[in-house]
Amino acid sequence: NEIKIFSPATVANVACGFDVMGFCLDSVGDEMVIRKVEKKGIHITHIEGFDLPYQADENVAGVSALAMYNALDVDFGFEIEIYKNIKPGSGIGSSAASAVGSVFGINELLGRPFNKTQLTEFAIKGEALASKCEHADNLAPAMFGGFTLVKSLDPLEILEIPCPENLYATIIHPQIEIKTSEARAILPKDVALNNAITQWANFGSLIHGLHTSNFGLIQRSLNDVIVEPYRSQLIPYYDEVKKAALHAGALGAGISGSGPSVFTLNEGLETANNVAESIKAIYAKTDIDFDVHVS
Ligand code: HSE
Repeated sequence: NEIKIFSPATVANVACGFDVMGFCLDSVGDEMVIRKVEKKGIHITHIEGFDLPYQADENVAGVSALAMYNALDVDFGFEIEIYKNIKPGSGIGSSAASAVGSVFGINELLGRPFNKTQLTEFAIKGEALASKCEHADNLAPAMFGGFTLVKSLDPLEILEIPCPENLYATIIHPQIEIKTSEARAILPKDVALNNAITQWANFGSLIHGLHTSNFGLIQRSLNDVIVEPYRSQLIPYYDEVKKAALHAGALGAGISGSGPSVFTLNEGLETANNVAESIKAIYAKTDIDFDVHVS
């Protein structure tokens, strides 16, 4: 009647796949303990790591759990303990990890009445509380693992994209906060046709590269001509970081979700570690605190 789960951090957008593409990190994530209790409803009983609301309908994990709970007809409830490791506002899917963790855990305790797509539908409600809009590009990889493509939101359709062996991500997180809602507000409403053509050519090629483990193609596809020019201005030393990462051998680099974290994809663990070191060297010369993960 009790389950402990790990809910992973995720990288959304992956350069050319704004709002549809994402991948999951295996080395960073939150933990939750969920237990079935007699008292009806969703009760958040413990939160560690960051200061977040205990009131279920004000908490991302609580809102998604409530959406699921209200779809059930049960005469018991659930307690949730949240051990939050992913800093809210860091750009690696902190709210998605919360939103997915609670519904995944409850579903396991109930013997899996819902499939992963249905669980993601509930999680979208929690994610919307945090980012003020419904998108699933962090939720889908947190729920399914690996790379995912959100084919459509209504109806929700998620595709699992294969992850080539020997592909590693390096994530650098400068300790500044960028709110997703603000990073969305600065984006233009319209896109020039020539940029759209470049972007969908790159995105299709990225998907093909992932399917065929074609690292050269992945490398040539990891570009974002639509969103990066606006959002990169919010991230200190972004151009230097990207240049250093590519120089150190990264296949490509981009903003993780809405930032401020920056991700790179790399062939091989050694390259991923070299990239981490070269980026560290840049922020180490500044007064910005940062941390780095290789996954
Ligand atoms: N696709 C979303 C964005 C992810 O870039 O705004 C934010 O978490």
